[in-house]
Amino acid sequence: MTHHDDQLVIDVISIFPEYLQPLDLSLVGKAREKDLVRVDVHNLRDWTTDRHRTVDDTPYGGGAGMVMKPDVWGRALDDVMQPGSHLLIPSPAGRVLDQRMAEQLAQDEHLVIACGRYEGIDSRVAEHYRQAHRVTEFSIGDYVLNGGESAALVLIEAVVRLVPQVLGNPESIIEESHNISGTLEAPMYTKPPTWRDLEVPEVLTSGNHGLIDDWRREQALIRTARVRPDLLQKIEPERLTKKQRELLFRLKTEAGQDADSPEASRN
Ligand code: ADE
Repeated sequence: MTHHDDQLVIDVISIFPEYLQPLDLSLVGKAREKDLVRVDVHNLRDWTTDRHRTVDDTPYGGGAGMVMKPDVWGRALDDVMQPGSHLLIPSPAGRVLDQRMAEQLAQDEHLVIACGRYEGIDSRVAEHYRQAHRVTEFSIGDYVLNGGESAALVLIEAVVRLVPQVLGNPESIIEESHNISGTLEAPMYTKPPTWRDLEVPEVLTSGNHGLIDDWRREQALIRTARVRPDLLQKIEPERLTKKQRELLFRLKTEAGQDADSPEASRN
C-alpha cells in the first residue's frame, strides 16, 4: 500500500482483530481504498512469548478480573509507535470523546489505539509512553463496555470522516462546524409531504430560505433545551444570531438556570 507524508495512519492493537472488521466497510473502508487514510489492525498475541500466548494476569492488591500484562503491551507498542505518534487508550475512566477532540485527532499523523480487555491494561504502560509521547485515555460515554474495540470503532469513524476528501459532501461538515455553536440539529423531513396523516412543517415548503434558516435555528435551540439542557451552558452566544440569543436567554431562564442577559453575553 502506498503512503504519503500527510496521510493519516491509524494502528489498532487488540486481542480480537476480527472485532475491527467493520473498518473494511462503508465510509472508512472507502477512505482506506482511496488511500486517504491507512488503518492497520494488529493481534496483541503476536507479541506474546509463551506457549499459551498469555496477555493477562491477576491484579496486584486483589479483586475480580484480570489485568493486561505490561511486558506484552510494551513489546507491541515499541514496534508500532513512531516519534510523534499519539497513543489512545479506550477506558471508561478516560476523557469523554467529543467533536472538538475528533477534530484535533484528525490533524494528527499517527494514531495508535491500544484496546484493553478485562479490567484494563497495567497502568504503567500509559505512564511509560507518556514520557516520550502524547497519551490520551478516552471514553465514549458513561457506561462500561467489555473492552476498547467498539470504542476504537467509534473514535475511528468520528475522526476519519473529518479527514479532507473523505466525505463526498463537504457541505455537511461545514453545517456541522457552524453547529459548533453547540446545538443539536433541527428535525429533518423528506418526501412525501404527508405520511400517515403527519405533515411536514409548512415553512420548509415555503421556499423562503431566510425563514427556513430562522426556523431551523429556533428548532435546534428548543430541541437542545428539551433533550440536552446541559449543552445550553456551552453554547457560544457570539456564534448565534440576535434572535437565537434572545431565544437562548428565554430557554435558559425557563430551565431555571442562571443566565446572563443576551446583551451582557454578546461580548
Ligand atoms: N472500555 C470500557 N468501557 C469503555 C468506554 N465507555 N469507553 C471507552 N472504552 C471503554
